[in-house]
Amino acid sequence: MTVILDGKGFALKIEEELREKILSLPSKPKLAVVIVGDNPASQIYVKNKQLAAKRVGIDSITIELPKDTSDINLLNQIEILNRDETIDAILVQLPLPDHINKSSVLQAISPIKDVDGFSPYNLGLLFSGSEPVSLPCTPKGIIKLLKHYNIPLEGRNAVVIGRSLIVGKPMALLLQRENATVTLAHSKTQNLRDITKKADIIVCAVGKPHLIDSSYISGNPVIIDVGINRVEGKITGDVDFDGVKDMTSYITPVPKGIGPITIAMLLENTYELYNFHQKIRAQYGDLR
Ligand code: GUN
Repeated sequence: MTVILDGKGFALKIEEELREKILSLPSKPKLAVVIVGDNPASQIYVKNKQLAAKRVGIDSITIELPKDTSDINLLNQIEILNRDETIDAILVQLPLPDHINKSSVLQAISPIKDVDGFSPYNLGLLFSGSEPVSLPCTPKGIIKLLKHYNIPLEGRNAVVIGRSLIVGKPMALLLQRENATVTLAHSKTQNLRDITKKADIIVCAVGKPHLIDSSYISGNPVIIDVGINRVEGKITGDVDFDGVKDMTSYITPVPKGIGPITIAMLLENTYELYNFHQKIRAQYGDLR
């Protein structure tokens, strides 16, 4: 029997708990989202993040910059947010336009406001086995979902497909931290089917609709589909859900799978940064 992992339901539960906790805070946590350009998918994601923040009582502001914004202008905006004592969390929506140096932008975000955990400081802490200020939202949420369903990770073969900063690379580190044996596959991987057929857990984050079909699956693995692809006006994942569902032990749907959990983790990370800042203020008076 296949279990469909209810990402939407799990995300709602997390939101409900956060809403309660935020109600008892002396002030509202505040998230700043920076979006550069007019990528339609990014605009929808940012809108959904703002609506979710509102649902749980998090204040949010969005800074929209035109697609020809210079690096310097974007870096200045981030510096203003870094210095603004009312802002707890900063998210720069990715991808950025090609002319912008993503690395310098992520380096500019103060590590104590880095709600995505993408700054080199936080990624370095994760890599070195320490606890970062924030963990990247999607991988953090996937681990939480797996644990929520009591899916064992220790000693199991996990295959992550896709080596992005947003999902693949931090996902591999988090699975390894849970004592899984991790293979990080990508577009140049040879004989991917041979690898996925030996997997107990497959996390697919590539952005290619229906990349993973029944020919990749053997032995009832757990499948986590991170893909969000628009095909003929409909959202579909990287996995051919209908074609592989009965060959899996657990599988996430798209939509209502990992997408809502990523947003719930953004809210949770914002709440955690707020609490961290309250502690710093209690000790030092301000965030500097
Ligand atoms: N673009 C797609 N997913 C994400 C995410 O989790 N964080 C940011 N900053 N950009 C994204």
